[in-house]
Amino acid sequence: MAAVLSVNLPETAYDIAIAPGSLGDIGAALKPLGLGQKVLMISNRVVEKYYGETVRRSLNAAGFSVATHLIPAGERYKTLNSIQKIYDAALEHRLERSSTFLALGGGVVGDMTGFAAATWLRGVNFVQVPTTLLAMVDASVGGKTGVNHPQGKNLIGAFYQPKLVYIDPDVLKTLPPREFRAGMAEVIKYGVIWDRDLFAQLEAAGPLQSVHQLPLALLETILVRSCQAKADVVGKDERESGLRAILNYGHTLGHAVESLTGYKLVNHGEGVAIGMAAAGQLAIALDLWDTAAAKRQDALITKTGLPTKIPAFLDPLEMIATLQLDKKVAAGKVRFILPTEIGKVVITDQVTPQILQKVIPACQDPPCPP
Ligand code: NAD
Ligand code: GLY
Repeated sequence: MAAVLSVNLPETAYDIAIAPGSLGDIGAALKPLGLGQKVLMISNRVVEKYYGETVRRSLNAAGFSVATHLIPAGERYKTLNSIQKIYDAALEHRLERSSTFLALGGGVVGDMTGFAAATWLRGVNFVQVPTTLLAMVDASVGGKTGVNHPQGKNLIGAFYQPKLVYIDPDVLKTLPPREFRAGMAEVIKYGVIWDRDLFAQLEAAGPLQSVHQLPLALLETILVRSCQAKADVVGKDERESGLRAILNYGHTLGHAVESLTGYKLVNHGEGVAIGMAAAGQLAIALDLWDTAAAKRQDALITKTGLPTKIPAFLDPLEMIATLQLDKKVAAGKVRFILPTEIGKVVITDQVTPQILQKVIPACQDPPCPP
């Protein structure tokens, strides 16, 4: 398996290179990109322990000098304070305009590294080496970078495209199964919003709960089709003036669940899975799609070992209030991405607080009485 996809943007086009066992070749892959000599590799302790040395050695062999900065693992460290520490490291290691920030890690490392790269010296080179499934199929592609505000997720950020996304699927072998499943939530998302053939292939596949259960060909399909879906959408609407919002399918309620559970109980992918199931119920309430299609979606989510229910202890009114902080709010109305068939969604502001007050309790586990 080896594939190179392109994100076709007028001024900042770049490749997504996918090849198993390729991590040790990253230096050679960066060489032709005309980057400066200095690289600041940003990672966390866990990922660095597994893969830091391989990346460093390869970069050194290709003539780059590498400094490493580690950030603590976890969504709760996706903060401006962590960005400040990246700036401190950049200063200490004398990173220049021509230098490169390289993200080696999951979406948390990638989003923060990208934001730091966008703002340090008003913009230095940025390379994504995603090590979670979620980061491979979603977070590393498309240039959304940023950090959380205490009041809400990803409220601070910038669009800033990487020079290259470099994916070695072999690194998924060390990824905890729960994190693998979280990535599968985004993969299912692409099936529902864009690629019904991918959805059908996942439905027809054997167990999906761990990377060790997947035939290599299926893993290739998952990575290539997901990255292609993301590249297609971003290529048409980089700055989310319209179409790109569909990539937030499942994220509106998902973010509310994530933030109201303190980013600890429910991870990003689990929040998206819950949010997709709830979006399905909202779509049914608005007569946009049918119960059979919603059941197919929820069955695939469940087959992947992901949750479909909103935790029962969350207060629906508090969730509705949290939605007002969503980045997709326009003129005070929360915009939802809702499915109309497998492979198609619409963007709508027709989901009123009244509809939410009915549907959220019905999506809770165990369902609350109406
Ligand atoms: P994460 O970055 O927190 O990584 C999950 C855990 O896996 C971490 O503890 C990490 O140390 C560990 N890990 C990573 N790679 C590993 C490996 N190969 N082996 C062993 N352990 C490994 O979580 P995530 O799910 O990758 O990313 C979630 C973040 O991505 C959220 O902050 C979300 O907002 C963001 N995101 C951004 C975009 C975007 O377009 N920018 C899209 C989706 C999600
Ligand atoms: N993950 C949503 C986006 O990239 O637009």
